[in-house]
Amino acid sequence: MRPGFARWLLSGAALVMACGSGAPAAAPPKVDPLALTPAQDLSADPDVIEIALTAREADKDLGGARLSRAWTYGGTMPGPLIDAKVGDLLVVHFKNELPEATMVHWHGVRLPVAMDGSPSSQKPVQPGGTFEYRFKLRDAGLFWFHPHVRTDVQIERGLAGVIRVRAAREPEVDEERVLVLDDVRVNEDGTFPTYLDDASKMMGREGNTVLVNGVRDARIALRPGALERFRILNVANGRFFNLKIPGVRFRVIGTDGGLLESPYDVETLLIAPAERYDVAFEVPRSSGILSLTSEPYERGHESGARPPLAVATVAVEGEPVTARKTLPDRGPALARLPEPTGAPIVFALDEGTSEKGDLIFTLNGAVWPVVPAARMGLGETRVLELTNKSEMDHPFHVHGTFFQVLTRNGAPEPPARLADKDTIIVQAKSTLRVATRFDEPGAWMVHCHINEHSEGGMMGEILVGGVMSSGH
Ligand code: C2O
Ligand code: CU
Ligand code: CU
Repeated sequence: MRPGFARWLLSGAALVMACGSGAPAAAPPKVDPLALTPAQDLSADPDVIEIALTAREADKDLGGARLSRAWTYGGTMPGPLIDAKVGDLLVVHFKNELPEATMVHWHGVRLPVAMDGSPSSQKPVQPGGTFEYRFKLRDAGLFWFHPHVRTDVQIERGLAGVIRVRAAREPEVDEERVLVLDDVRVNEDGTFPTYLDDASKMMGREGNTVLVNGVRDARIALRPGALERFRILNVANGRFFNLKIPGVRFRVIGTDGGLLESPYDVETLLIAPAERYDVAFEVPRSSGILSLTSEPYERGHESGARPPLAVATVAVEGEPVTARKTLPDRGPALARLPEPTGAPIVFALDEGTSEKGDLIFTLNGAVWPVVPAARMGLGETRVLELTNKSEMDHPFHVHGTFFQVLTRNGAPEPPARLADKDTIIVQAKSTLRVATRFDEPGAWMVHCHINEHSEGGMMGEILVGGVMSSGH
């Protein structure tokens, strides 16, 4: 029997029992299978969010003959959605019930380095161990959390959750959804492969099962004529999603660091691992079935020669929305970083072969953890020069701050595209110059967010404010 069917039977039985005692049963409440599990706030203080977060194994239907033994935060994949507002204090009582060490990194969140949950800032939490994370949420936007130990395995197996931080004013839409995109590779019997095939070593592991909020063959129901807001996060190890819904133009209203000052329109939305995009769009006015696909995109090694990939079914159905809202065309003013000073900090990204003949990924010619650290002063604005010497794109990530693109291959970035990013695609054989500034001292990691690449060596750190390397 298919695992999904067994579960359906079980929940049916539970429903019958629950209804057995009372009056005639009303129609069961409609549950949205794409709804993320809300994190339970244990604090009565409206400005404090206090949660218990346990990393543990749980069974999950990933399309194999048997359930897959996923690694989860709190039993669900993806993990809980933490909803907060700007300025809230987040307190997380973390417990590790996995069979191996882990830690929780808060991707994109500006916080004190001791709370960053990276190998540069924290000792891994051993099985059975606990750690308390505690920090203020300073920025509005969509952020996420994931392990920073063996990320190619731990994130792949399901460890990822979302933090949504709301501003005092948010765009007015009919409906807002958070979409967590993922693809996982499972064997026919539901187990996870323990090896990496050559393509996965090179490009990062791409899965045979596409998940939207943990659901296979997802169906997204939209009302005709509605103004939708999709807040999209890619938690895949290696896959770039290049999203398209035929007949729909996405208005990009925000990205990693929050809302954009000048929204812009696209027909396809490219989103690399760990990036976030916030889009608004008008749903077509007539009912019908559309498809959300990932269109071919060349990120190296002929990866763009493949056919489009089905991501979800989009069902335009139900009561049409008649009181039409308008697409946001202006966002809040974005604070521009001051003129950078000093010499650029260069990060050269490349691939190569080790003495043993293995494929390696390098940062400035070296393999983590022997990559020499870069240094910069607290509060100073510097240029990071991200030079990709390899034949494929690398989504490069900087911990603990945002950066703003200055030039792409020497061409100035149009002012209308100004955005706070924490992860950006550095295309094959190209150079990006970005400006950044740290407001917290410490050892901050930088790395490619294709997990097989960072684990394969493309990882380093920036030491801010005269601190010493933690000597991982
Ligand atoms: Cu998602 Cu080191 O990051
Ligand atoms: Cu990060
Ligand atoms: Cu990479």
